[in-house]
Amino acid sequence: MSSTEVSARERGVDAAGVLGWTARLWFVVAALGQAAFIYFIIAFYGTRTVSGHFAAWNDKPLITGYVEGDAAGNAMFAAHVLLAAIVTLAGLAQLVPALRRAAPALHRWSGRVFLATACVTAVSGLWMTLARGSYLSLVSAVAIGLDAVLILVFAGLAWREALVRRFERHRRWAMRTFMAVSGVWFLRVGLMGWIVLNGRPVGMTSKMTGPADVVLAFGSYLIPLAILELYFAAERSAKPAPKLAAAGVILVSTAYVAAGVFGAVAMMWGPYL
Ligand code: HEM
Repeated sequence: MSSTEVSARERGVDAAGVLGWTARLWFVVAALGQAAFIYFIIAFYGTRTVSGHFAAWNDKPLITGYVEGDAAGNAMFAAHVLLAAIVTLAGLAQLVPALRRAAPALHRWSGRVFLATACVTAVSGLWMTLARGSYLSLVSAVAIGLDAVLILVFAGLAWREALVRRFERHRRWAMRTFMAVSGVWFLRVGLMGWIVLNGRPVGMTSKMTGPADVVLAFGSYLIPLAILELYFAAERSAKPAPKLAAAGVILVSTAYVAAGVFGAVAMMWGPYL
């Protein structure tokens, strides 16, 4: 046992416990925020799509949204947003260990649904960005395009590791896929969190070309992925210091995510329901 571990134990600090509880707190806040996103998708897009009021998608400001006469583009938009609700729900379900232990068969099926819908959502998103031209600026198109590529690569690796039964590697690639898929949700939460913290949009433009927009466009998945790697390294480390440092970073990011969820519900989703 190292001297840092001994001193942390002597001070009564259970570093592994602190890391575990911080990660759970992060998950609860993220799950509530993603549930709000799912609710919004169903209540706004789901109701308008099922009732055939496609033009009413544009009741909310969109880049392209519904276009009269563009059957292919409108169908792709409908498929994308409805799959978005499924992939978000399936992703959350994968991360609940109690569910995994209690119903392993359900875990395998929701895992297949998660990885397959993640790929279809990424490809349909890429199609809308590249073929339909639904992007605000070149930098935002590159940022979301890179996220789509990461989703496809990570989902492929998670699937392969499950097939060859390397479950620890599978767990890590599946969690990376979850973060890359959640990048789209993090972007909305990140933008709104920034406005909540500053009291107004700072370094942002309507075309997402401001410095804060660019940082958040790439950071929406690169920052969560970096924090996840920190968490993996802290999990593996025998020393308490990396665990406590990772717990601190996760705690700060949880506070930011909470502010962002509040902002997204208040400014981005709530007003349209
Ligand atoms: C995989 C997780 C994803 C989720 C959960 C998701 C969710 C959504 C939602 C809810 C919308 C409706 C717009 C809104 O109200 O916010 C949307 C639209 C859109 N998404 Fe995604 N998306 C995902 C991935 C992607 C990816 C990877 C791309 C691009 C490569 C993409 C490109 C688009 C585009 C172009 C639109 C249409 C925007 C418009 O016409 O205004 N999405 N997405």
